[in-house]
Amino acid sequence: MQFSSLMSILHAISAIIWVGGMFFAHMVLRPSINHIDPPQRLKMWAEVFRRFFAWVWLSLVVLLVTGYASIFVDYGGFMSASIHIHLMQGTGLVMVALFVFMFTIPYAKFRRAIAAKDWPQAAGHQAIIRRVVLTNLILGLITSMLGASGRFWA
Ligand code: HEM
Repeated sequence: MQFSSLMSILHAISAIIWVGGMFFAHMVLRPSINHIDPPQRLKMWAEVFRRFFAWVWLSLVVLLVTGYASIFVDYGGFMSASIHIHLMQGTGLVMVALFVFMFTIPYAKFRRAIAAKDWPQAAGHQAIIRRVVLTNLILGLITSMLGASGRFWA
């Protein structure tokens, strides 16, 4: 298989895993388990986050490596890359920064509160995680629109 095709496939699949996972968590899982008592619900979120965030780390690394590989191999560098690539890089890097912030601060505090069985604290940190995930979901949809359609309008 051609190098560029492989990079593009890995890039698209990583975006699907990250953005699709956020869509499912926010739009489907969250409203479906809202009626469960806080201790049970928060423990469940702790398991969901632990598994999903591992996939996000992997997706994020693959997105960056394949995105920059494509810029250098397919476009011959930043100077000749069109505007949709620069926009995608911008929104993509904001997504990465938000995820790293969320993982290192609110999620670390959330895990500590869960370990201490401090449910009100855990719920407070989870609310911040939810807002970051929603922001990244919106940015992820915009970034994917740019990536998928840019070559037709840029
Ligand atoms: C942050 C650094 C990123 C860089 C440098 C980058 C770069 C690229 C490049 C060069 C393309 C090919 C576009 C074309 O030929 O028209 C592309 C496509 C695409 N990108 Fe990104 N991207 C980045 C992040 C992201 C993120 C975070 C997402 C979504 C979460 C994303 C979603 C897509 C999609 C859906 C495509 C179209 C499918 C494909 O060609 O693989 N990108 N990207």
